[in-house]
Amino acid sequence: MSLAIDILTLFPRMLDGFLAESILGKGIGAGHLQVNVHDLRTWSTDKHRTADDRPFGGGAGMVMKPEPVFAAIEQLQRPGCRRIYLTPDGTPLSPGLAQELAVQSHLIFLSGHYEGIDQRIRDTIIDQEISIGDYVLTNGTLAAAVVIDALARFIPGVLGEEKSLTHESFTSKLLDFPQYTRPAEFRGMSVPEVLLSGNHAEIEKWRHARQVEKTRLVRPDLLK
Ligand code: ADE
Repeated sequence: MSLAIDILTLFPRMLDGFLAESILGKGIGAGHLQVNVHDLRTWSTDKHRTADDRPFGGGAGMVMKPEPVFAAIEQLQRPGCRRIYLTPDGTPLSPGLAQELAVQSHLIFLSGHYEGIDQRIRDTIIDQEISIGDYVLTNGTLAAAVVIDALARFIPGVLGEEKSLTHESFTSKLLDFPQYTRPAEFRGMSVPEVLLSGNHAEIEKWRHARQVEKTRLVRPDLLK
């Protein structure tokens, strides 16, 4: 069973390159996941294709209207679907959350815009709210892309080598060790001797020590 994803956004073209390129593009091509991007204005009912309006109670900015969002989700949702709203005040994205999303059968991502969306959307047809970090983007479309990229790597077959999953940062709670490739000497900088030694036990030991060193320096919180 492969994962189907629908993305609802006012800026669908922001995702063109993202979906076509790289490992994700290949995963879609190979049928490991299916991603459909929808312009929310498709579900606007007035002739100006409005999707936002002024906030009740006053204040700056515009608020996304409930009608197009309800209509879109009601049309797209299938039984067992998880409906996700991207927002800086949501649950922080983590590897565990990405892994949990990767085993679902159907996800709908709603990208918010302007100063927010009508609260009735969040109260009734959203199952989960996710933030990709403590900063505010102009809209949630890139945040949806980040969540999809992070979860796609947990779908079997998307990453060529299973090994690249187990060895990397955050699966082990340690940051990555440094990598080198040929040439062994470049502009006077040499690759650490141990990596050229062929001694796998020593290489593992060296890599682990570098991971601990880097984590202590950059992310001491991960060692607690
Ligand atoms: N929309 C705007 N900023 C966001 C963030 N940090 N995470 C998720 N959605 C967002």
